[in-house]
Amino acid sequence: MRTVDLIHRKRDGEELSVEEIAYLIDGYTGGGIPDYQMSAFLMAVFFAGMTDREVSALTDRMIQSGASVDLSAVPGVKVDKHSTGGVGDKTSLIAAPLAAAAGVAVPMISGRALGHTGGTLDKLESIPGFRTNLSVDEFRAQLIQHGLAFIGQSPEIAPADGKVYSLRDATATVESIPLIASSIMSKKMAVGLDALVLDVKVGSGAFMKKQVDARRLAQMMVGIGRRLDKRVQALITDMNQPLGYAIGNALEVMEVSQTLQNAGPADLTRLSLELAARMIHLGKVAATLEEAREVAQTKLLDGSGYRKLKEVIAAQGGNPQVVDRFELLPNATGAREIASPRAGYVSGIEAEYIGLASAMIGAGRDTKDDTIDPAVGVILEVKIGQKVDAGAVLCRLYYTNEEHVEEAAQLVEDAFRISSGPPEERALILEVVG
Ligand code: URA
Repeated sequence: MRTVDLIHRKRDGEELSVEEIAYLIDGYTGGGIPDYQMSAFLMAVFFAGMTDREVSALTDRMIQSGASVDLSAVPGVKVDKHSTGGVGDKTSLIAAPLAAAAGVAVPMISGRALGHTGGTLDKLESIPGFRTNLSVDEFRAQLIQHGLAFIGQSPEIAPADGKVYSLRDATATVESIPLIASSIMSKKMAVGLDALVLDVKVGSGAFMKKQVDARRLAQMMVGIGRRLDKRVQALITDMNQPLGYAIGNALEVMEVSQTLQNAGPADLTRLSLELAARMIHLGKVAATLEEAREVAQTKLLDGSGYRKLKEVIAAQGGNPQVVDRFELLPNATGAREIASPRAGYVSGIEAEYIGLASAMIGAGRDTKDDTIDPAVGVILEVKIGQKVDAGAVLCRLYYTNEEHVEEAAQLVEDAFRISSGPPEERALILEVVG
């Protein structure tokens, strides 16, 4: 078998066999296939797509690229949650502690910033001392003791996804339904989960711009889960404006803390509660979804979700005081205000532009080896529907290095649409699949 022939055939829209896909994944993970050939293959998949059979084969091989983590020693139903990627999307850091506080075991395996979207691991690593590179034994022990542990891909867990994920980020091959589905499901299924709640984002700040594509992605992932005997449920949710007000790693940790103290933005609180409720329901802590919603709400109001987050930060080597004393988090040194050019209503906030601007000043990566600046990002002062005066501050850009600030400020300015009348209201949760 020759890699170039497989690239050629995929480029021409042919279906590859299980063996051919295994050859590519094993070769790339083992170092025999170089980045430039894998990049070409990914671009071919981006344009030509994959059949369901190919996606299953790809997911299976990515799972097999590492060890399957045995969590049978962890009591309770194991439920994880994952988002397909958004801007200001920090729901994992809120829903997971709420579900864990309710008694669900949450083995959370997360990703890093990808394209214009943020990543849970990068957000967590903005907390001084926080370790996401737990060994499998540490991960299991923490789950038994605290009911929640955060980890990323490692040489042990779905290493193929780790390598392919960062290559996609640097080669403009992120927004592909089969690549997203196999990426998410391989790392999720490598950990011994019983059930999974997915948040499939749709809109300007999501990888899927159209609801029909988001639905197809959701159905593909639910189907992969079903084939592997796991209960998977997907919410399709709106990402036409950033979620909450904060975009950027440490800034988002601050907003997570506020939200877990019931002082967070309405949209972020609502979606996090719904995701937590679905985790609690699939985790069999509550018999009905209605009951699970009440449990999630209680865990928010009585502060037990907030305390669980602090407990887990300490367990993973981080300083738990950061959630009370934000000055202990990395802080930006410069700020730039973006003002409204006219009076009117905010009728659009192009989430992708905000995500790109934030990545440009250091919250994301240009190449797979770039480091993140945890302090930088954007804080919105308004949301869609709000009335503003001419000159009102729409958002602030926080930076530590002046280099790309002009360009980023222009992008952020272009992100806002101000209209004379109020825009139509949009639903946050659009559909449930599975
Ligand atoms: N999250 C992932 O884990 N993978 C993707 O490809 C997109 C979002």
